[in-house]
Amino acid sequence: MTATRTGTFYGVGVGPGDPELLTLKAVRVLSHSDCIYVPSSRLSIQNYVADVVKAHASPTCESVPVTFSLADNSAQRQHHWHATAQEICARLQAGQNVAFVTLGDPLLYSTYIYLLRALQDISPTAKVETVPGISAFSAAAALTNSPLGEGLHPLTVIHAANDLEQIRTLLATGGGVILMKIGPLLAQIVALIEQADALPRSVFVARAGLPEQHIETDLLRLRHAPPKTGNLAVIIVQARRK
Ligand SMILES: C[S@@+](CC[C@H](N)C(=O)[O-])C[C@H]1O[C@@H](n2cnc3c(N)ncnc32)[C@H](O)[C@@H]1O
Repeated sequence: MTATRTGTFYGVGVGPGDPELLTLKAVRVLSHSDCIYVPSSRLSIQNYVADVVKAHASPTCESVPVTFSLADNSAQRQHHWHATAQEICARLQAGQNVAFVTLGDPLLYSTYIYLLRALQDISPTAKVETVPGISAFSAAAALTNSPLGEGLHPLTVIHAANDLEQIRTLLATGGGVILMKIGPLLAQIVALIEQADALPRSVFVARAGLPEQHIETDLLRLRHAPPKTGNLAVIIVQARRK
């Protein structure tokens, strides 16, 4: 059955893990949503996302857990997100306002991007609003008072699983670099930063805003850290000052 008024789909960024870094707009949208899709995974950060939803959703709001499809096979991943998008489209047509919550900012390395594309494929005229969130790198910069962009220096945000040669080339330019999704590559990334003579300009921040927050300004200490140390972490390399 199609309602006279179709609903809106909101992609809501809930910031990196500190409940005070949620925007007023995110709070308003969550409290007015009829249904909220909550990504679920074994990562402890999902407790934060689920707590935000619990704290701000209306008592009548339906919460739907969504499992991540991190399948390497892009066809499988696309199939997974299309199925979720179909479900959301049906809700929108029934007049529901539907939100999907995501860590940090929804448009930066987020599963929201897959869902958004799938939804726009299925229903190009669907009403979609993305609510920006404070990204992990902004929170990490603020926690460590690290300038991100200054003067004419370029700043590059890069997924650490990129070709390590590409990261080495980037570090050699002396511009500012933000490394995200470091995971098991931590020791290799630290070695590249050391080779680029950029250790004094670098800082590591893991689990920013969460109880297990870990800040390290001496990156050499991370060379032999346990394998999970690089999970949910960013490294900021400030630009070389001329
Ligand atoms: C799936 S991406 C999500 C990025 C997110 N959309 C954003 O704007 O920050 C996950 C990566 O974000 C970074 N990240 C997310 N939350 C973080 C936090 N609380 N502290 C440090 N890094 C975090 C890590 O690099 C992690 O591997």
